[in-house]
Amino acid sequence: MHTNSLESRRNFIRNLAIGTSLAFLPASSIMASSSLIAPFNFRKGAALLPLHYNENSLGMSNNALSAAKEAITLYGNRYADGAVDELKQLIASYNQIPPEQLILGNGSTEVLGAVVTYAASMNATLLEPSPTFGDVRSRAKARNVKVVQVELGDNFETNIEQLKQRADKLKGPILVNLCNPNNPTGTIVDKKLLSNWITNAPSNHIFLVDEAYHEYATSNPNYSSALPLIKNGKENLIVTRTFSKIFGMAGMRVGYGIAAPKTAKKLDSLSASFNLSAAGIAAAKASLLDKEFFNKSLNANERAKALLTNTLDELSLRYIPSNTNFVLHRINSDLNSYTQRMLANNIKVGRRMTKDDGWNRISIGTPSQMEAFTKTLKSFREKGWV
Ligand SMILES: Cc1ncc(COP(=O)(O)O)c(C=O)c1O
Repeated sequence: MHTNSLESRRNFIRNLAIGTSLAFLPASSIMASSSLIAPFNFRKGAALLPLHYNENSLGMSNNALSAAKEAITLYGNRYADGAVDELKQLIASYNQIPPEQLILGNGSTEVLGAVVTYAASMNATLLEPSPTFGDVRSRAKARNVKVVQVELGDNFETNIEQLKQRADKLKGPILVNLCNPNNPTGTIVDKKLLSNWITNAPSNHIFLVDEAYHEYATSNPNYSSALPLIKNGKENLIVTRTFSKIFGMAGMRVGYGIAAPKTAKKLDSLSASFNLSAAGIAAAKASLLDKEFFNKSLNANERAKALLTNTLDELSLRYIPSNTNFVLHRINSDLNSYTQRMLANNIKVGRRMTKDDGWNRISIGTPSQMEAFTKTLKSFREKGWV
């Protein structure tokens, strides 16, 4: 595209954003609008401010972006066999485990799918809290795996005691799906409860601990990853992680699982070969080496979360204290009307995820995006909508 027309298109989109009081959009998303990919067609029903998928609105690290571009330019036409090994080495040393304990996935959802296939091959029952992230459940249903759910406690905490009791009553192998921190609540499982259960459970209880939001939770003294239990030799445990959240790479599709070597080998055989793209591999490697971006990402999330929770406090809207990049909060209205009204203000909020209506899960954007969101929320209060 000619530079002038590119520039005028950028200005047009910038003005459009300002005109709709969305001048808070980061330059990167405005720049993206001038690419060959039409911004609002790239995603279904996209709003100018997408706060519904728990993505990282900062975008990925500049180093990751440069690495991805270079990888596409040099190797977009090649299968990235050597690069995968390098990424494995790097993730392994990042987590202080041998590379044979790793399973790479096209997003962590691919690893979750492999775990379900593995469990289904043993005729396991899926046991999980409700509500929780739905991918494992939908994979399980597709494979005719019986699903047993245990409701969260009064404060939206994962009810470990009740899950344990259900597990003890079930016959045969069980896949226990624990999302920690949990989506959509943002709550964590107390580290002692988690490790006691996993340590003392029979070997036909397979634990899947989905740690997609791990990096946001590490400052909570009651939280611990389940990874040390794998390092201590647990064979019936798989931990999954992703580059989609703290590293801002949701569109690049890179995730991984960690398990004992025997379990990892089995799960790896259930994943597609060459499942990662050259760009994703390069970006993931650069991300792991960019400590500065990691800290920036974490800090921005903390600042934006505080902006949000301060406003929720001010409006007396109850929320569940979150260890993630999203917050589940009351909206004092039905979700349907709230969603429509937010959309009319160019903001896309989370879908229904709780048994009771009147709650919404909002993803945390950049601090300036959260300022825009809270401004809209306050205007809703003035209208008597929340
Ligand atoms: C708990 C949880 N696990 C996994 C995923 C999917 O991650 P990925 O992009 O790595 O497939 C998500 C995405 O929102 C999630 O919330």
